Amino acid sequence: MASGPPSGAKKEQWGTRVGLVLAVAGNAVGLGNFLRFPAQAAQNGGGAFLVPYLISFVLMGLPLLWVEWAIGRHGGQYGHHSSPGMFARLGRARWLKYVGVFGLFTNLTVAAYYCYIESWTLAYVWHSLRGTFEATPPTTFFPEYLGTTNSDIAAIPYEAAGFFLATLTLNVWLLSRGLVRGVELAAKIGMPLLLGFGAVLAIKGLLLGTGDPGVVESPLVGLNFVWEPQASGLFNPSTWLAAAGQIFFTLSVGMGSIHCYAAYLRERDDIALNATTAGTVNEFVEVILGGSILIPIATAYLGLAAVQAATAGGSGFGLGFLTLPTLFNQWGWFGPIAGAMWFGLLFFAGITSSLAMGQPVLAFLQDEFKVKREKAALGFGLATLLLGGLVVVLYPGGTFDEFDFWTGTFSLIVFALAEVLIFGWIFGIDRGWAELNKGADLRLPSFYKYVIKYVTPLFILVVLFGALVKPSVGWSEAASQLMSTGAGRSRSTACSASCSTSARPAATSTRAARSRRCSSRT
Ligand code: PHE
Repeated sequence: MASGPPSGAKKEQWGTRVGLVLAVAGNAVGLGNFLRFPAQAAQNGGGAFLVPYLISFVLMGLPLLWVEWAIGRHGGQYGHHSSPGMFARLGRARWLKYVGVFGLFTNLTVAAYYCYIESWTLAYVWHSLRGTFEATPPTTFFPEYLGTTNSDIAAIPYEAAGFFLATLTLNVWLLSRGLVRGVELAAKIGMPLLLGFGAVLAIKGLLLGTGDPGVVESPLVGLNFVWEPQASGLFNPSTWLAAAGQIFFTLSVGMGSIHCYAAYLRERDDIALNATTAGTVNEFVEVILGGSILIPIATAYLGLAAVQAATAGGSGFGLGFLTLPTLFNQWGWFGPIAGAMWFGLLFFAGITSSLAMGQPVLAFLQDEFKVKREKAALGFGLATLLLGGLVVVLYPGGTFDEFDFWTGTFSLIVFALAEVLIFGWIFGIDRGWAELNKGADLRLPSFYKYVIKYVTPLFILVVLFGALVKPSVGWSEAASQLMSTGAGRSRSTACSASCSTSARPAATSTRAARSRRCSSRT
């Protein structure tokens, strides 16, 4: 593994600070902000979700961001831009670099299914512009597109595979152009467009009135539901799990991807302010923009109760890919444009995130095996194609959910716990704190030194434990069942043993169905 003292060797660096912040914000702002957040919020009591969510951001999200930026910039000074090499630099033990391998594994495997969803958004831009959804309802179109209507489980859905290939090619091409001409460029174009499209859709949606055709409720009812904080969520462990899970996913922490971007900084470049800004931009986009499109528009046409029912599973796919395109048909000539804007926004959100999953893999091949950038990009593309191919072909068989849980949820939490412990206890919190504050343009409150050392690891441990033993019926129901009949316990134990797939903070619809199957079985 390449090591050695900090070298003055010529290496890639970010072009501008604006470019850097946009790229890191683009990394974090993804499909999670516009689909997963609103669905998770709607499913977990709207404003009741917001309070644990914001607390998780402050006690877990922000500290993890700082830790990851610090590990990344530190590793970068030794020529490491992917986590195995960086982790080897945090202490003497040989096993440290193997912890870092998590940061490659997750990126590669998450990329496989993430790029697939990203490719759906591209297909939907095309079909929105063509007016496909005026003639064919998305509820008919989507299963056919995915090949879920085909009884032969290994049949290839050609259109979906074609869009997947096109999306991957674009990712590989951008990655092969290098940090500034690829990643930074995509963020500089994609982020402003995404914000613009989002603003147009939010304004158009929020201006819907009950006099407009098809509107049954004011969109503000939906907005209020998501935004009005309610203390009740504080006492519900399931809400905490969902909120913490969303913070992980949306900030892209526990992936090795933030580390990689930070590794392209110079030794005295600020990290405290950059990390805080990128995290805050992500939260702004998630809560403000993400909260004002999907739920308010759907509420206006369907009513709040139906919207909540439609978000069962918490992925937002149903509302985003099935419901919204139908509702845009009510908007006359603007309908196809609105559809293209919605899916275009999702596409830009997606691609700036998938590039962030590819870059660490590229960097690993470049740093440790001296592979040329273009070849490394191709390597990432091929690996994603192989893994993603499985998801495309076997989607109806539930491969997608398996990927999502093990790579998109479970390993993120394990990796984050390991890194915060290594940073606070092996690298040492004093050194760590000094590293974080080196060249800082923002003074971090000193109590965070203790938060990073004690509170964040404990917080993650509780989340991990909760995610593993969460009963299928939900904690509060299980507790009340337990108290009233004593039945909750046996049921939850039986379920977590026989059907661990139900124990996930980030349930998608198939998974929820599986967990329902499980609860009926036990
Ligand atoms: N944060 C991204 C989202 O919200 C997902 C992501 C995870 C991106 C990990 C990069 C790395 O969709």
